[in-house]
Amino acid sequence: MQKPDLDRAIEIAPGTYWVGFDDEKAGLRCNPYIIVDGDEAVLIEPGSVPHFPIVLRKVASVVDLREISTIIVSHQDPDLCAAIPRFEEVLGPGLKVATHSRAAILIQHYGLSSPFYHVDQNGWELTLKSGRKLKFIFAPYLHFPGAFMTYDPVTKILFSGDLFGAFSFDWSLYAGEFYEEAMKAFHENYMPSQEILARAMDKLEHLEIAMIAPQHGSIICDNPRHYINVLRNLDCGDYMLE
Ligand SMILES: [Fe+2]
Ligand SMILES: [Fe+2]
Repeated sequence: MQKPDLDRAIEIAPGTYWVGFDDEKAGLRCNPYIIVDGDEAVLIEPGSVPHFPIVLRKVASVVDLREISTIIVSHQDPDLCAAIPRFEEVLGPGLKVATHSRAAILIQHYGLSSPFYHVDQNGWELTLKSGRKLKFIFAPYLHFPGAFMTYDPVTKILFSGDLFGAFSFDWSLYAGEFYEEAMKAFHENYMPSQEILARAMDKLEHLEIAMIAPQHGSIICDNPRHYINVLRNLDCGDYMLE
């Protein structure tokens, strides 16, 4: 695979872009994404305050900012949510923030002005203007009680939030041969138990998944099913042993 130009937005599937950057000092990389669907766009896990200028530049390079209708955030952490008020300043009114109602209770403390779209109260899906639907998959306690993943049936990308993430200073945009170990280390410490993890992995059984796009670590293109099976069988909750 040709080495991608990490200074630009990278199209990971038709109309879907990675809009993060090569944050060399960070072991825990953050991955924002945007889906462009005709004249509408959906921003996923937009990022933190220090990341905002770079992410905004990349988002603006692929879409007219006024076309962003929705920001999806898988949970309330500052590394994916803190920039939402900054985006609101430049995107203007008409924006909504899609998340679980449990996460919304905490996310409102960032000082948002946009209304929430509670995924758990809207049939676990979001319908775009074109009729295209994004599906939400509940992943409770991984690592937040209201955490969820987003699945796009058109590109077959699973935007997995913290799940399938990894902590590693040796980073590449697409997962390589060492990714499995980095992913396991992150989950062993960050996720509560194998039983809880396995329940979420079971929900992915019936889905056709071409690519897993996590909020941390690298994008998994090669044999996503293998990584699902690794997590299904992984012993977690290592901090319980300290
Ligand atoms: Fe998190
Ligand atoms: Fe995270």
